[in-house]
Amino acid sequence: MTERDLIPTARQSRPRTYLMCAPEHFVVEYAINPWMDTTAPVDTALAVKQWDALRQTMVDLGHTVHLLTPQAGLPDMVFAANGGFVVDGVAYGAKFRYPQRADEAAAHRAFYESRDEYAFVAPTQTNEGEGDFAYLPDAHGGIALAGYGFRTEPAAHAEAAEALGRPVISLKLVDPRFYHLDVALTVLDDENIAYYPGAFSDASQRVIAQLFPNAVVADEADALAFALNLVSDGRNVVINTESTAFAAKLTAAGYHPVLVDLAELKRGGGSVKCCIAELRP
Ligand code: ARG
Repeated sequence: MTERDLIPTARQSRPRTYLMCAPEHFVVEYAINPWMDTTAPVDTALAVKQWDALRQTMVDLGHTVHLLTPQAGLPDMVFAANGGFVVDGVAYGAKFRYPQRADEAAAHRAFYESRDEYAFVAPTQTNEGEGDFAYLPDAHGGIALAGYGFRTEPAAHAEAAEALGRPVISLKLVDPRFYHLDVALTVLDDENIAYYPGAFSDASQRVIAQLFPNAVVADEADALAFALNLVSDGRNVVINTESTAFAAKLTAAGYHPVLVDLAELKRGGGSVKCCIAELRP
């Protein structure tokens, strides 16, 4: 082995387009995942400040950030990743599991329908957008990964495959703490992922290992810190400040972690990725 073989490949970033929504109305007044505690007070102003630093980080990295207008009465609207799943200009819409979030879908739909670069496909099956769908353009010719077990119905995986014309690999989530795919698995670049095996059924762990033999593996402490709820542009990996141990693993794998504090939003059961939908116009 030469010295060069020991140096991780230089990672390349690619400019991205994102959709976010400020947590102006963020509170925890209902509990639909194990992280939400309706008795613990939320500092909405702090949430807005932390969210805005995240938005500015994405802009400073050279990415385009579109914004949705926050709506009173939709406290989880800040978790914009759940509003759709876009691949090559086709936006497969969301249909939320719980009635408390149902009205968010219309705001996302209006965004896609107002812009020429997206063709909106209305869903008939329950699915929470990029909360449970991920896309890798250069893995196996372009595949989507999809979670089920808590929010998104497997029938929506088939509906997404039909809408997007891409293989969709169904993965079963088994730990309620990791109720969405995006808190258990993340896309690091166009062909590779990181994941926490314990969040998945044994069979799904075998599926993931077969498709992604070079995946970066997270442990339970990483997953509990929401380390996997990150957003990567292929090189810069925006990840929350609680996840320093996992950030070190990413550095060792040749990525460049960028840490942001989103502690207040964790009270809703989300972190970096939950706040950011990637648009692929
Ligand atoms: N409180 C929200 C819910 O339970 C959090 C959603 C987090 N979003 C995500 N993409 N994981 O639906």
